[in-house]
Amino acid sequence: MRTYLVTGGAGFIGSNYIHYMFKKYGDSIRIINVDVLTYAGNLENLKDIADRPNYTFVKADICDKEAIEKIFEENDIDRVVHFAAESHVDRSIKNPEIFVKTNVLGTAVMLNAARKAWEKEDGTYIEDKKFLHVSTDEVYGSLPDDDTAFFYETTPIDPHSPYSASKASSDMLVKAYIDTYHFPANITNCSNNYGPYQFPEKLIPLIINNALQGKKLPVYGDGKNVRDWLYVEDHAKAIDMVQEQGVIGERYNIGGHNEKQNIEIIRIILETLNEMLPDSDPRKAHINEELITYVADRKGHDRRYAIAPDKIKAAVGWTPDTMFREGIKLTIKWYFEHEDWMKNVTSGDYQKYYAEMYK
Ligand code: NAD
Ligand code: TYD
Repeated sequence: MRTYLVTGGAGFIGSNYIHYMFKKYGDSIRIINVDVLTYAGNLENLKDIADRPNYTFVKADICDKEAIEKIFEENDIDRVVHFAAESHVDRSIKNPEIFVKTNVLGTAVMLNAARKAWEKEDGTYIEDKKFLHVSTDEVYGSLPDDDTAFFYETTPIDPHSPYSASKASSDMLVKAYIDTYHFPANITNCSNNYGPYQFPEKLIPLIINNALQGKKLPVYGDGKNVRDWLYVEDHAKAIDMVQEQGVIGERYNIGGHNEKQNIEIIRIILETLNEMLPDSDPRKAHINEELITYVADRKGHDRRYAIAPDKIKAAVGWTPDTMFREGIKLTIKWYFEHEDWMKNVTSGDYQKYYAEMYK
């Protein structure tokens, strides 16, 4: 039975990936999820699978070398899928150090521990061991408004925010392990994800939550910054396909050619909420464009991200299954059905964060 060590599995993409993997492989795999449970980590996301005999949760910090090495010593790990990170650009602008610690040092600890467990005396590796580093398209920097420019795997790394700089550093470290030690790893650089379990500090769940409550919808700058949105399950599928069918040592971009300006995203959410809520729902009275509020721009705000997914398509045959209009409906439906989840994550510290961020 293949054993996976997933880091950051209690976060947004990690928890969707774990659900996807159990749906796909059932009892034929084992997953160990290591997560320190920061504000973004939530075991509620995994309550449906928590009792599976082939699932184990370990509360540990990826920067804790001893704790991570112990997991490798006690388990014969076949796959590492490394999600754990500080992931929010706005938080990185306010407090960059934790991004360097978790994203760079934490990745170094993960790489070292895996190498120690997998490398043989002659410098080769135990057969069929693989490490996948989950990264972002933000490492490539920003594209001009011109919609014919795209990020390729060969695009020079040019990060602007402390978040993207820390992810670019971790990518470089993985590349150094591949080049220096022939370490069996892949790097994936994915565009913006959306879907169930996303923490409402990110654009899409924040807008859904605010609109439902009749709160203002904060738009940074002129609202014309472009992001390339991908339904999170399509990301999970891509990670699995790259890890099983990709060429070791290669980097793959993941994106579904779904570029939209932020203001378009907000309008689609408002429209979809109104379509999906029954006429009798009193919230319908306040869900309209009057909620849209332009606020000060994010410092160093990248203008446009757009992935060219040609390589992943040609190499492993990946294409996304869920188009944006359908994905946003699935996402909104999930948030409708999980009002308690939203209430729980937005109580306490979130209130403080929101008041400070949007003052
Ligand atoms: P998230 O913030 O929702 O989750 C991060 C998880 O990592 C949380 O469960 C948190 O508790 C855990 N974590 C943080 N620090 C840790 C530490 N020191 N030790 C152990 N666990 C720790 O993030 P996400 O949006 O799910 O992103 C996951 C990964 O995917 C990140 O590496 C991110 O850079 C990358 N990524 C995200 C997107 C996106 O749109 N969200 C797009 C491309 C790539
Ligand atoms: P976000 O979801 O934070 O993802 P990222 O910065 O990693 O791309 O933001 C997506 C886009 O939405 C980005 O251009 C910033 C913008 N944005 C707003 O306009 N208002 C908001 O309240 C937030 C959180 C983001």
